[in-house]
Amino acid sequence: MPTSDDISISTRFPRDFLWGVATSAYQIEGALDADGRGRSIWDTFCEQPGAIENGQNAAIACDHYNRLDEDLGIIRDLNVGSYRFSIAWPRIQPTGRGAINRAGLGFYERLVDGLLEAGIRPFPTLYHWDLPQALEDSGGWASRDTAARFADYTSHMVHALGDRVQQWSLFNEPFIFSSRGYLLGRYAPGRRSLRDFLRAVHVITMAHVEGFHAAKAVQPASKIGTVFALAPCEPATSSHVDRVAAEYADAVFNRLFLGPLMTGHYPDAFLKSIPRGALAELPDDAARMQVPLDFIGVNTYYRLVVSGDADDRPELPYFLFDVLSDERATGGHADLTQQTTNTMRIENAFGRSDGKRTAMGWEIWPRALYDALLDLRTHYGDVPIEVCESGCAFDESPGEDGMIHDDSRIAYHRAHLQSVADAIRDGANVRSYHAWSLYDNFEWASGYRPRFGLVHVDYLTQKRTLKASAHWYREVCRGARDHARSIGEAPR
Ligand code: FCB
Repeated sequence: MPTSDDISISTRFPRDFLWGVATSAYQIEGALDADGRGRSIWDTFCEQPGAIENGQNAAIACDHYNRLDEDLGIIRDLNVGSYRFSIAWPRIQPTGRGAINRAGLGFYERLVDGLLEAGIRPFPTLYHWDLPQALEDSGGWASRDTAARFADYTSHMVHALGDRVQQWSLFNEPFIFSSRGYLLGRYAPGRRSLRDFLRAVHVITMAHVEGFHAAKAVQPASKIGTVFALAPCEPATSSHVDRVAAEYADAVFNRLFLGPLMTGHYPDAFLKSIPRGALAELPDDAARMQVPLDFIGVNTYYRLVVSGDADDRPELPYFLFDVLSDERATGGHADLTQQTTNTMRIENAFGRSDGKRTAMGWEIWPRALYDALLDLRTHYGDVPIEVCESGCAFDESPGEDGMIHDDSRIAYHRAHLQSVADAIRDGANVRSYHAWSLYDNFEWASGYRPRFGLVHVDYLTQKRTLKASAHWYREVCRGARDHARSIGEAPR
């Protein structure tokens, strides 16, 4: 149950601050064959032996597609003001191109209408990693045509829902899905190619540009942004090599996409570390890369603590962590592996042992969220920020009383909300906080093992049970609403 401190958390936020929960389509919907949906790259990836823990897949997941009314009821009862979800491109354009599939669209229309009826902001992301398989077959994100396909899909969606949806995220975490999907082979489509990764980086950058303009062409008043995974990068010691390594990690992890979109330039440290021409830029691209995003979405789960090898010569360019050796081992593209580079380590991946760890092995470090928010303010000024995901996985199951006592999750959100409040106090223009996630769900390559939900899902029966954290969050959201009313204005 919330303490009086918790109720007062909400009074530290602007009265129009939005309190929300987040999900993504592939992680909860299931119903992969329903209503003409096409295949996605994750359907294919899940079939590869060893790709997903315990050989699991998302065929049913939380069965959200078939339980929309029940789920809308749960969202409504949490007192949230914003629901971040994603739209499955293969439901809208089963082959990634051509006419819209009305039946697939109908699902999102019902979702959006249900949210609006309950006074909740619908906040969709257009691409949360489930590319239509047909587009992968014609080159995926390494092919420039995919940027044009994405713009076309964006335009369809803004046409269809722009009368009801005011604010759209183009992508979720471009660095994460491009690096894990094209370079490291850990996420769909499972490629391990430095060449394809670098091409994908630029195609995805240009897809942001094309998508942004496509949305604005349909509805100039719409607010268009994108969601980045941001992890403050700290040098492991104050040595020169560690500091250079941390700066490089920051350039790659945090600024590979933010840089071109916000300033029109890829980070210098990154450019110096790759062969000329590897991004396959077209002549006009440089002049078009910067777009005036209406907001920046932030997902921060950890900090990175970085060290360079002691005998490295810091004047040499680093390359992406240990991927060169990885690439050589897998017989990748020789032309790109001839670079001489330093190596760097992400010490004790995802943080240090100063903080406790979650079931993902991620160190709990609320300060990381504060730092990420302030860093945006420092680098990119007053642009509005939405915290699109913040949350943690813990292994907890119902106790003898049938309740799920996830005190660690409550402590996690409480501390991260304090970080957001501190960041606002210190000048960051933060508009919302979305707990990841509404439900326990399909956590990509980790399958169903990590449970991130405020709401527990029994995957055998599909029974949803509010954890203690959900009850707690509901009261915090209620506190915020009551506070806003008491000072004369309901939250947006
Ligand atoms: C983020 C993803 C989200 C979920 C969380 C735990 O990187 O955006 O889908 O997997 O991590």
